Amino acid sequence: MRVVILDSSEAVTQFAADEVCTLLHRRKNDPRGAVLGLATGGTPLGLYRELIARYARGEISFAKVATFNLDEYVGVVPESPSSYHYYMLENLFKHIDIDLSLTHVPKTCGVDLQESAESFEHKIEQAGGIDLQILGIGADAHIGFNEIGSSLGSRTRVKTLTQRTLEDNARYFDSIDEVPQTALTMGIATILECQSILLLANGAGKARAIRDSVEGPITASVPASALQLHPRVTLAIDRPAASMLANADYFLAAERNRAVASRSS
Ligand code: F6R
Repeated sequence: MRVVILDSSEAVTQFAADEVCTLLHRRKNDPRGAVLGLATGGTPLGLYRELIARYARGEISFAKVATFNLDEYVGVVPESPSSYHYYMLENLFKHIDIDLSLTHVPKTCGVDLQESAESFEHKIEQAGGIDLQILGIGADAHIGFNEIGSSLGSRTRVKTLTQRTLEDNARYFDSIDEVPQTALTMGIATILECQSILLLANGAGKARAIRDSVEGPITASVPASALQLHPRVTLAIDRPAASMLANADYFLAAERNRAVASRSS
């Protein structure tokens, strides 16, 4: 795992935006276009704002880009401000030149959920897989809505949210009683099939989850620890989120050496 410890959440945003832009530029002349995996929640909001700004400055285009979101609540209509469909439209899609027919947020309304999960996996496959998956992380180390105990071999399916997640996400609803109890989420095995993964985390509230995911054993009790199995995972985290890492100095030294190597190449 590459662990990049940065001085501020703004630096995390810039790092993530650079990674996305590198992929978009690399794929610019490829008819397939880039395939991005996207997350919702508070953490990627800065990234989406920065991508919109770079698009407005003419630095990038999303014209051929396909996207797949990690998850969507069950029982929330796409038009609802609490849905992840709405979140993506408001916070990214309506501000850029993306073809909405190439954007995919799991469908959870008026559909058979099992069929919807299977069709979502099928669409990822048809798109040629996800090039870069953006992840946030829950305070309990969930990724997507793969809550504690999620099988490391899991695929897109319905998951019941934990009390902790319900409490954390209550801020997006009028009250905790309105937070849906279940969501359709990419599975851990689905996430591990992405070409590369970029996990973002800010703040001391994520420090324990980061420590357990990076330095603890691989276990279904810490869903993000499964990322240790993937050969191309980068964590871009601010100092408070890195504050419980026993090996923080090592990760900082590794990044200094990487910078030196890239300057001399
Ligand atoms: C959202 C998602 C979740 C969030 C996580 C952290 O699509 O998949 O795993 O990334 O709950 O949320 P924030 O960023 O709000 O702390």
